[in-house]
Amino acid sequence: MPRARFLGTGFAVPDRVVTNDDLSSRMNTSDEWIRTRTGIQERRWVREGETGAGLAHAASLRALEAATLAPSDLDAIVYATATPDHFAPGNGVFLQRLLGVGTIPSIDIRNQCSGFVYALAAADAFIRCGQFRRVLVVGAEIQSTGMDVTTRGRNTAVIFADGAGAVVLGPSDDDERGILAFDLHGEGVHAEKLWVDSPGSMYHPRVSREQIDAGRHFLEMDGKEVFRHAVVRMPESVRAALAAAGQTTADLTLLVAHQANLRIAELMQKTLGLRDDQIYNNIMWYGNTTAATIPIALDECVRAGRVRPGDLVAFTAFGSGFLWGSAVVRW
Ligand code: UT7
Repeated sequence: MPRARFLGTGFAVPDRVVTNDDLSSRMNTSDEWIRTRTGIQERRWVREGETGAGLAHAASLRALEAATLAPSDLDAIVYATATPDHFAPGNGVFLQRLLGVGTIPSIDIRNQCSGFVYALAAADAFIRCGQFRRVLVVGAEIQSTGMDVTTRGRNTAVIFADGAGAVVLGPSDDDERGILAFDLHGEGVHAEKLWVDSPGSMYHPRVSREQIDAGRHFLEMDGKEVFRHAVVRMPESVRAALAAAGQTTADLTLLVAHQANLRIAELMQKTLGLRDDQIYNNIMWYGNTTAATIPIALDECVRAGRVRPGDLVAFTAFGSGFLWGSAVVRW
């Protein structure tokens, strides 16, 4: 069974920059609070008319170009998003349509902040079992349209943002290179600690005026609880994935972690005993783009030469579900 290897990476974000001062003019918050509590300085939000599939398309074209492949070379799409453009169908087919790629299958993954790691695991399994050769894996999100941009929503509105990242995976001809191991977990007892209640098919109608007035269609988060679990689960999972790959933190070239909060990243770095050159953070510029944070950060690292053939790279994520997980790759 061949390992799955990264053939190309790409990302795209909206060109509209939203600063902390912009948010301070709409709700009771401040640049100082946002910077010290989250590390975020600015983020990108879509303009009306921009779509998640459109951002994913731009990111995918960059990843395909880096892989020197055409859309017609793809055998499947695995698309992770917590914020699809429509209730149904999922964004995979909208991306397929934009790419103009015949009848190849697409698989939609929810799994929120951990969506990209889970999407990688699905694509890896397809490649290893020989079902598909070239798989486009996307993490893309439009969070801004689901934010309560009043003081009521300030604990989420200042954090979440929009963007898309994509990678192309294919079978490796070198058994030493490619995705080495995964570590994946979920704990549904915490489902309501970071969730969007409606629209939901358990309601008749799926969203009511009362729910909208109560803000139940906005992302709700118990920030302290999410924080408390994230700083334990991510390091634990990185260690487990490294162990499954027969590696240790000392072997790690780079950890590309989900960008949820700079304080979470700093605590994780400390727990794992990693040097500054072993981690990468870009939450300052893009905020938390949920399933898109890891592929966006990865593409920046690849293009900056921080990931080279033979390097040991790990990804880790934690978020809504709770769902979390890690992957270890020999680049
Ligand atoms: O991506 C998936 C996972 N998501 C995460 O990992 C996020 C995890 N959680 C966090 O990052 C942090 O919990 C937050 C950044 C959301 C909040 O930081 P915190 O240090 O946990 O603050 P807090 O929720 O305890 O709130 C402290 C105070 C509260 O006021 P009182 O009750 O002390 O008077 C909040 O109402 O800060 C207030 N507050 C704000 N003040 C100004 C909350 N949001 C804001 C805001 N601006 N935007």
